[in-house]
Amino acid sequence: MDSHDVQADLKHVLYTKEQIQQRIAELAAQIDKDYEGRELLIVGVLKGAVMVMADLARALHSHVSMDWMAVSSYGSGTQSSGVVRILKDLDTDLMGKDVLIVEDIIDSGLTLSWLKTNLESRGTASVEICTAFRKPDAAKVELDVKYVGYDLPNEFVVGYGLDYAEKYRNLEFVGTLAPHVYE
Ligand code: IMP
Ligand code: MG
Repeated sequence: MDSHDVQADLKHVLYTKEQIQQRIAELAAQIDKDYEGRELLIVGVLKGAVMVMADLARALHSHVSMDWMAVSSYGSGTQSSGVVRILKDLDTDLMGKDVLIVEDIIDSGLTLSWLKTNLESRGTASVEICTAFRKPDAAKVELDVKYVGYDLPNEFVVGYGLDYAEKYRNLEFVGTLAPHVYE
């Protein structure tokens, strides 16, 4: 979907399809360089990271393995519950692996902080984080994020994998919603 398809629900477009693709390509080039000669496993966090995983993986020039996890930290509202539960675990044994967690967005950082510690406890060689978006002003924990696409203002955003009540994930851009959508 593009901005015309959701015009009535939209407040602002924050990052266009082109801007997102450009930044993902830059991150992929950096990841290719940083992991040269190593075997990388990229782990996508369902469901939000589907778009960034698909674009990042295809922008890489190196072989990678791909696996998926589903965790829950949000209901259908817009506030982090702080409670993380594994809904779907990895199929891969992480012993000795270089792992890159791929996320759509880091808000409070609670989900990723928990997930990074969880994966590290499985005997990984390394665990780093790549996120398409981050809200620096919303951080509640200190989290070392190696690859960040774009920083966002502390507002609820949708698109490019990010949903509001399971809608808007298939927007090709990231934007904010008009107030009437939440009411
Ligand atoms: P955190 O634990 O607060 O960092 O929340 C991370 C998760 O919350 C993300 O992976 C998203 O699924 C969801 N989330 C956080 N902010 C937004 C937003 O602005 N729009 C949609 N989903 C969000
Ligand atoms: Mg997510």
